[in-house]
Amino acid sequence: MASILSFCLLLFLSLSITTETNCEQPTEHKRATQPEIVQACKATRFQDTCVSSMSNSNVPKNETPLQIIRSAISISEANLKTDQSMVKSILDTSKDNANRTRAAKTCVETLENSQYRITRTTEDGLPGNTKNARAWMSAALLYQNVCLGQLKYVNDTSLTNQTMSFLNATASLTSNALSMIVSYDVFGNDTKSWGPPQTERDGFWEISGTVEEVGLRYRGGFPPNLTTDVMVSMDGNDGGCYKTVQEAVNTAPDNEWGRRYVIRIKEEFMRR
Ligand SMILES: *[C@@H]1O[C@H](CO)[C@@H](O)[C@H](O)[C@H]1NC(C)=O
Ligand SMILES: *[C@@H]1O[C@H](CO)[C@@H](O)[C@H](O)[C@H]1NC(C)=O
Ligand SMILES: *[C@@H]1O[C@H](CO)[C@@H](O)[C@H](O)[C@H]1NC(C)=O
Ligand SMILES: *[C@@H]1O[C@H](CO)[C@@H](O)[C@H](O)[C@H]1NC(C)=O
Ligand SMILES: *[C@@H]1O[C@H](CO)[C@@H](O)[C@H](O)[C@H]1NC(C)=O
Ligand SMILES: *[C@@H]1O[C@H](CO)[C@@H](O)[C@H](O)[C@H]1NC(C)=O
Repeated sequence: MASILSFCLLLFLSLSITTETNCEQPTEHKRATQPEIVQACKATRFQDTCVSSMSNSNVPKNETPLQIIRSAISISEANLKTDQSMVKSILDTSKDNANRTRAAKTCVETLENSQYRITRTTEDGLPGNTKNARAWMSAALLYQNVCLGQLKYVNDTSLTNQTMSFLNATASLTSNALSMIVSYDVFGNDTKSWGPPQTERDGFWEISGTVEEVGLRYRGGFPPNLTTDVMVSMDGNDGGCYKTVQEAVNTAPDNEWGRRYVIRIKEEFMRR
């Protein structure tokens, strides 16, 4: 039951931009979905969200993989705009609360950065440069998660709670778009080969070489022979940890060519 409820909630959150829908309309779930979309969504981590968000947007029939990816990106971008206005409302209504003001200011900045990266994904990435597109979209997702991490500590109003839920849904949509870009980068237009995403968080480290040689191979865990130099964690008090990625990056030595400086970001910071 709980999972059905949270799915309805997510569906509602992710679709409220483009359509008027709610959980009491089971027909929304049953509407026939284009097979191209279902196939492309197999590349994503949140497949149900992927299919439902795409089925309800104005996606033309017989879309090519690139068109499907563009739709996924624009759905994520549309949701992000709502997140940005919600975060501004938090800022406007938090004048008496220094901590919440600080978190909201950080969010205004990080979500703006996130929006900029999403724009770059289409302008400077797809269709020609899929590696760039991946980098921009990953950065967009990271910025959304940084904002979520900030709000977690000041979640004492219902507006903050609502913003977090909405932003969490946006992050799922962003993650989905990113996963499709990765599959497109690795497998191209052959969506039948697109499979569930494997990220660094799963221990996926892409191997150089052609798809035929290596495939999208899963190799478990943090590479065993890497030694962590510094760690980043939410609370920062876990032995030698830094609270922000920037602080950790600042500790990296200059001019040490050839040495790998390993910054390990703890899971609860990334969230996905
Ligand atoms: C603000 O955060 C600090 C720790 O970062 C905490 O000690 C303080 O109690 C918080 N203030 C409020 C009003 O929550
Ligand atoms: C937080 O938001 C979620 C989703 O909007 C809602 O289901 C939940 O009841 C809210 N919790 C509080 C304490 O407001
Ligand atoms: C925010 O806080 C409320 C009340 O403590 C809690 O029920 C809710 O789960 C929190 N929301 C998020 C998104 O963590
Ligand atoms: C965030 O979204 C994920 C996937 O959509 C979901 O499983 C999770 O319960 C959500 N978390 C919160 C706090 O809403
Ligand atoms: C995928 O197909 C489109 C035409 O629909 C083409 O422009 C593009 O180059 C193809 N992508 C790859 C990676 O082959
Ligand atoms: C770690 O292992 C990989 C192969 O598994 C190897 O290429 C690399 O040189 C090793 N790095 C160190 C620092 O030993």
